[in-house]
Amino acid sequence: MFSGSLRGRLLWWLLLPLAAFVSISGMISYRNAQTTADLVQNNALLSSIRIIGEDIDWDNGNVSVQIPPAALELFESPEQDSVFYRVEASGHRLLAGSPELPLPRGVSDVPMLYSTHLEDGRAVRAATYVRQLYDSGRTEEVVVAVAKTEGSRDAMVWRLLRPQLFGEVLTLVLAMVFVYLGLTFELRPLMKVKDDVADRNASQLEPIRVARLHVELRPIVEAINQCIARMGQQAATQRQFISDAAHQLRTPLALLVAQIQFARQRENRDAPLSEALAGMHKSSRKLTTLTNKLLLLAQAESAAPSSTRERVDLSALIAGVLEELIAFAQSREIDLGAELEDGLYVTGDEALTAALVTNLVDNALRYTQPGGRVTVHTQRGNDRAIVRVIDNGPGIKAEARVRVFERFYRASSHADGTGLGLPIVREIACRQGGTVTLEPGEGGVGLVATVEMRLWSAVV
Ligand SMILES: Nc1ncnc2c1ncn2[C@@H]1O[C@H](COP(=O)(O)OP(=O)(O)OP(=O)(O)O)[C@@H](O)[C@H]1O
Ligand SMILES: [Mg+2]
Repeated sequence: MFSGSLRGRLLWWLLLPLAAFVSISGMISYRNAQTTADLVQNNALLSSIRIIGEDIDWDNGNVSVQIPPAALELFESPEQDSVFYRVEASGHRLLAGSPELPLPRGVSDVPMLYSTHLEDGRAVRAATYVRQLYDSGRTEEVVVAVAKTEGSRDAMVWRLLRPQLFGEVLTLVLAMVFVYLGLTFELRPLMKVKDDVADRNASQLEPIRVARLHVELRPIVEAINQCIARMGQQAATQRQFISDAAHQLRTPLALLVAQIQFARQRENRDAPLSEALAGMHKSSRKLTTLTNKLLLLAQAESAAPSSTRERVDLSALIAGVLEELIAFAQSREIDLGAELEDGLYVTGDEALTAALVTNLVDNALRYTQPGGRVTVHTQRGNDRAIVRVIDNGPGIKAEARVRVFERFYRASSHADGTGLGLPIVREIACRQGGTVTLEPGEGGVGLVATVEMRLWSAVV
């Protein structure tokens, strides 16, 4: 029970001793209530035999008994106990009352209390004593006994016990409720740590910061933070390696491209050689693109949070990107247009934002059929800037729309590409606190790539 829950286990640890305490104190209260009720009952019985005994007298040489009402009124109670008495002179001569009431052995003039059963099996509590009567040289010993059933005594025990028990059970319940609430409240920092860790994506490697952390939890959070720091270090080393490798590859690749170009210019009419050189040229260009994209991805992944908080003039940046791509659009006979809102500033890194837009427009131009249309549209949202790259090309099938964000995944093979463009776009958007979504265009034609970015005014 509760094996998986810290709160449950702590409650259990508290409930056990508290329940033991309440049981013990309940038993003590029960004993005390019994003692008090017995005392009251015994006193009433003793008073009763005394009152009866006092009223026994000689009457014309005989012993006469008058049972005073006060002797029996003592036992009046809502429980209406049955009361029995027996007054007997020497030689078991019954003077009053009922002979069924058993008398104990060794009755003396010292009042004596005893418990017994009547013939019908009812349990009674009784008191008895011997009254000595003297008259002109005669002595008479009269035994007086009074008994009662124990209904009022039991009721008294319960009346005395009830408030005590109520208080103890209430204490137990209140303690449980307060401890439960207290634990829930005190465990909140731990839940915050959980939320902080659970909501992170793989690239969020900042240490966990929780404002009010208990001393007991600090070592755990510190250990997690140390682990995060080590993971961050590891990831940074890997990114640095990719970045360095891409850098190192760029120069020899540029040289290779130039040399192949030179060789192609000088080629003689040897067709196989010319074909080989053309192939080498194509491969080296592909390799260059791949290297550049890997470098860009590494840059996007390793961008420091501070560098992605620049003020970027989105409209001017997009206009610049479109200018660079206009020749490509023309070569593909695509109508490239823009509807840009002026004065739209976003928070981010200028070079990375430009790479983001370039990749999206490049995709639209690359995959849309000649004669198609590509439009870049910007708009101000609540605290967001919304960029839409709209084309009327083939679009991306629903099942591939999530997968295109995986590295090296390509949905079509009819155009050249590395499959890194959209992963780069998403990495940059996430780094800058934005989102990217793909959906079909109007009437299910083409693709609309929507990027939401934080407006500059939203952070200052
Ligand atoms: N506007 C678009 N219209 C149709 N298909 C698209 C569009 N944009 C992307 N795609 C599909 O998504 C795939 C992944 O795109 P992504 O930009 O990641 O890689 P790529 O364009 O193939 O290569 P890279 O951009 O790295 O040179 C593409 O291969 C293409 O099939
Ligand atoms: Mg692409």
